[in-house]
Amino acid sequence: MEKISNDICNIIIDNSYKHFDEELNEQNIYDSILIISDGNVYKSQGHDFVKNLKSKIIYEYIVSPGEDSKSLEVYEDIIKYCVRINLSRKSVIIALGGGVVGDLAGYVASTYMRGIDVIQVPTSLLAQVDSSIGGKTGINIGNFKNIIGTFYQPKFTYINVDVLKTLPEDEFRSGMSEVIKYSIIYDYNFLDYLINNSKDILNRGSEKLYYIVKKCASIKAEVVGKDEKEGGLRKILNFGHTFGHGVEKLCKISHGDAVSIGMNMAFKLSLKENLIDEKYYNNFLKVCKAYDLPLEFENADENEVLEIMKSDKKNSFSKINLVLPVDLGKVKVINTICEDRILEIIKECKYA
Ligand code: GLY
Repeated sequence: MEKISNDICNIIIDNSYKHFDEELNEQNIYDSILIISDGNVYKSQGHDFVKNLKSKIIYEYIVSPGEDSKSLEVYEDIIKYCVRINLSRKSVIIALGGGVVGDLAGYVASTYMRGIDVIQVPTSLLAQVDSSIGGKTGINIGNFKNIIGTFYQPKFTYINVDVLKTLPEDEFRSGMSEVIKYSIIYDYNFLDYLINNSKDILNRGSEKLYYIVKKCASIKAEVVGKDEKEGGLRKILNFGHTFGHGVEKLCKISHGDAVSIGMNMAFKLSLKENLIDEKYYNNFLKVCKAYDLPLEFENADENEVLEIMKSDKKNSFSKINLVLPVDLGKVKVINTICEDRILEIIKECKYA
């Protein structure tokens, strides 16, 4: 077990849930616990997790798996449940699940009685390396993702890397795009590591899982520690996401696959703008091949992809903010690329 801490983030990385209760009691004495999880996660993880909690009043609220649970209706239902069970300011909410559960439970915790403690226990690769760290919470209204939300730091994030072994193969594979993202935005040596160790990582041995999750969690904590509210540096975490957002929505593909297509678009644009060289782009292609990540989309109109990019809430002053690679392991937020140029790139990444 290891801890990564700074002024903003507290993260514990472990190979089981065994030390969770100790950590919980070290933080505070809580009068009761509400676990928010989804049906699939709770079925596979719930028992193993709860059996490590001693002498506490434990409640559970289980939502349906999937993005639709991040709604005002589900939020209202959970708040009503919190009132019914008398959840108090001395209670704690534990988010046991992937990104959806983490965002929803975080938002409930940040607003119930003006805010009660929340602990993130991420179970998907995406949640372990990204969404459970840094305090973003949110729910959706219609197609507007995370349009309501808060920055609200969890007391701590407890990562049991061994649960990644239980994920379906395709989910793990596509989640690797979020891992690759960190090497491009922050640590070029990590890209070489990912290329050279792809077989072992895909086989999901404990040691390799531990290493990659720790590496990503450390980078995320460092970035958030320097810029909690996304005034500047934190924007680099959106690499691949602005381009990817449109294809994710229109092509109904997984978030991870959309991010790898989005990263490819960003790379192609950087190459066209002479910000990087061909060799760097080829290394990016190599890592995507190693993890069988897609580079092109199909079944969507490029103009619609652009329209969704334009509506990204991370834009400002009517300009599309793009995170582009500018050097090995370095990216920059650029908002001076004209729409025609962006459209050209989207077209190039459409499967012919
Ligand atoms: N997922 C991006 C961030 O936390 O800022």
